[in-house]
Amino acid sequence: MAKTVRTNTRTAAQVIPSESEVARRVETLLGRMSLEEKVGQLTQIAGAPFFPGPEPAEVIRKGGAGSVLWLNDTKQFNVLQKIAVEESPSKIPLLFALDVIHGYRTIFPVPLAMASSWDPSVPERAQAVAAREARAAGLHWTFGPMLDIARDARWGRIVEGAGEDPFLGAAMAAAQVRGFQGSSLGAPDHVVACAKHFAGYGAADGGRDYDSVYLPEGRLRNVYFPPFEAAVKAGVGTFMSAYMDLNDVPASGNRWLLHDVLRGEWGFKGFVVSDAMAVGNLVIQGFARDGREAALRALNAGLNMDMASGTYPEHLAGLVKDGTLKLADIEAAVRPILTIKIRMGLFEQPYTDEAKLAQVIALPEHRREARLAAQRSMVLLRNEGRLLPLDKNLGKVAVIGSLADSMEATEGSWMVFGHTPAAITVLEGIRSRLPGAKVEYAPGPEIRRDINSFFDDMMPGSNPKPVQTAEEAEAAFQAAVATAHNADVIVMVLGEKADMAGEAASRASLDLPGRQEELLKAVVALGKPVVLVLLNGRPLSIGWAAENVPAILEAWEPGSEGGHAVADTLFGEGNPGGKLPVTFPRKASHAPLYYSRNLTHSPEEGPMYRSRYWDGPTTPLFPFGFGLSYTTFSITDLKVAAQRVKVGNSVAVTAAVTNTGPVEGDEVVQLYIHQKAGSDSRPMRELKGFERVPLKPGETKTVTFQLGPAELGYWSTNAGKWIQEAEDFDIWVGADSQATLHADLAVVR
Ligand code: NOJ
Repeated sequence: MAKTVRTNTRTAAQVIPSESEVARRVETLLGRMSLEEKVGQLTQIAGAPFFPGPEPAEVIRKGGAGSVLWLNDTKQFNVLQKIAVEESPSKIPLLFALDVIHGYRTIFPVPLAMASSWDPSVPERAQAVAAREARAAGLHWTFGPMLDIARDARWGRIVEGAGEDPFLGAAMAAAQVRGFQGSSLGAPDHVVACAKHFAGYGAADGGRDYDSVYLPEGRLRNVYFPPFEAAVKAGVGTFMSAYMDLNDVPASGNRWLLHDVLRGEWGFKGFVVSDAMAVGNLVIQGFARDGREAALRALNAGLNMDMASGTYPEHLAGLVKDGTLKLADIEAAVRPILTIKIRMGLFEQPYTDEAKLAQVIALPEHRREARLAAQRSMVLLRNEGRLLPLDKNLGKVAVIGSLADSMEATEGSWMVFGHTPAAITVLEGIRSRLPGAKVEYAPGPEIRRDINSFFDDMMPGSNPKPVQTAEEAEAAFQAAVATAHNADVIVMVLGEKADMAGEAASRASLDLPGRQEELLKAVVALGKPVVLVLLNGRPLSIGWAAENVPAILEAWEPGSEGGHAVADTLFGEGNPGGKLPVTFPRKASHAPLYYSRNLTHSPEEGPMYRSRYWDGPTTPLFPFGFGLSYTTFSITDLKVAAQRVKVGNSVAVTAAVTNTGPVEGDEVVQLYIHQKAGSDSRPMRELKGFERVPLKPGETKTVTFQLGPAELGYWSTNAGKWIQEAEDFDIWVGADSQATLHADLAVVR
């Protein structure tokens, strides 16, 4: 197989077939496939060794699978593909799928970090690199982007999305689809994207992963749907249905979601795959009495492909044979799957050149892209007395914290297939930046999850035993303080291990886990300059640090080049320009906390109304959209082109942004609106425009935003539909969600 030359990506000379040509080929295929093979196309099987069951090769040989997931081996792809295209009855190639979430071999910052760039070109370029590497390995389809709005920082999967806001989320969604898929489905060196998890998964009760979700239709449509609709508009090929119940109807059996909204309203033409085992889970959820009913309800809801639960292959053919389903129902579900296979060119080029991946992952431009993405994702949360950037001529630096030298913590969750090539840790980044300095490292006490993740069992080594004894931990603590004591400047690298955020990684607390805050306090007590670098996958309740540590850099989980990017930023080679895509609450018990809430009292009323708990402020620790820079900016001259705009028309809003400080830097100018009255209560602020603007010292630029029906309208609970009303609006433009520069706008008939 190694010498097969029919490689898996198109050459420029090959043309993507026209829609009618594709449709004709689909019908020809359907005409010669048996019922069992049709059901096979609706079946995704797990590659060994993840799930026991029938040998994948045997299933494929009979035409019993349309796609394989959790396999990551080019040779094996070719072996299985050969069975599919040469030995199975209708010779239909397989789609190989995997979770390529923020990089395949070159790992980019986690999606939450890339959203912090407020620059959609960052995730777009990242996902283009990820696609190129994944496709070179023989993958055709990624289970990304994850588009779930997340407003509860306890929910572990907040790390995989773009944060709390629908407008920012929609921009990042479309960018990622473009990055993964290229100019259109089937573009060379790209993969099919999958918008997941449709829908509402991020609103799990209590922030507990997989728990039920209750969201009124207005909230779904105004907040949770926009990134998904943006993905459809960007041409996403596939959707993944979520696990949980949405308002008591499991998402994977939810015809309103998968049929009425997704296909009926948005015109989605691709196919929907369930989340893993979700079709079988319909029985556990009590939505189906047994597997037969689960298969029936999922198919009728509009779910095309069963991911690994085995329910479709066990029951669908029988349901047709006993007349419960029509053959036409099965064929309708198969059509978009065959369409994508044809458009991807898999019939012409089913195999992968096994030598190609080695050439592609070695590309220095991929590492450069990863470093740039990480630089642009960092958010400076505090910088008292301009402690940062640090002087490059430092004599003695202490780097403290076990995450400082952890490749896992640098790369973050979904980095499932080993560090090849290796990631640069923060410690290595600082060392390579300061060849003349004495850089001493002390990890401090071990930090670990109290309860193992089920991924730990699949990926040995991710939460290794033995655990440090209390004495060993104490000795490590004291050694870290002693190391700090000897230094001129201390860089504390604290946060969360990679398995503390992500799937099945929700937390009841947002505090720094383990003894990290205690160590931070002991080090700060030494009275030396301390910089805190955070490596984490969710907002953390770092209230003490926010008052007592002079410099705090939110680096998130910055990827393969993360250590270099952190060092670039600490020593002023890069100027942080990222902004928070999520609110940082003061405590976990404040979750969900987000900026776009409805007004229930006048902001001028007394503290009794402002503070919704009597035992402390409920304001955010850091607001949505917040981030500092090594320079300063002013935003002035807010102008709305007309004081009144007619329903259905657009109006331009402009503002000037000036770099008023000493160095080059980027400011993210943000526009927020508030509809003052109407059929429904509207949020006190909603983001409706943003632009990241690079500026030299003294330079001024004008930023222009358009406000039209898409921005000024909303889905009204009272009207039961999308409306735009002739009402008054507040407009703010500024550097975060607490912007004060204000103008009025009247929408009129
Ligand atoms: C379960 C996760 O929820 C989903 O995001 C992922 O794509 C699938 N497993 C496949 O790995």
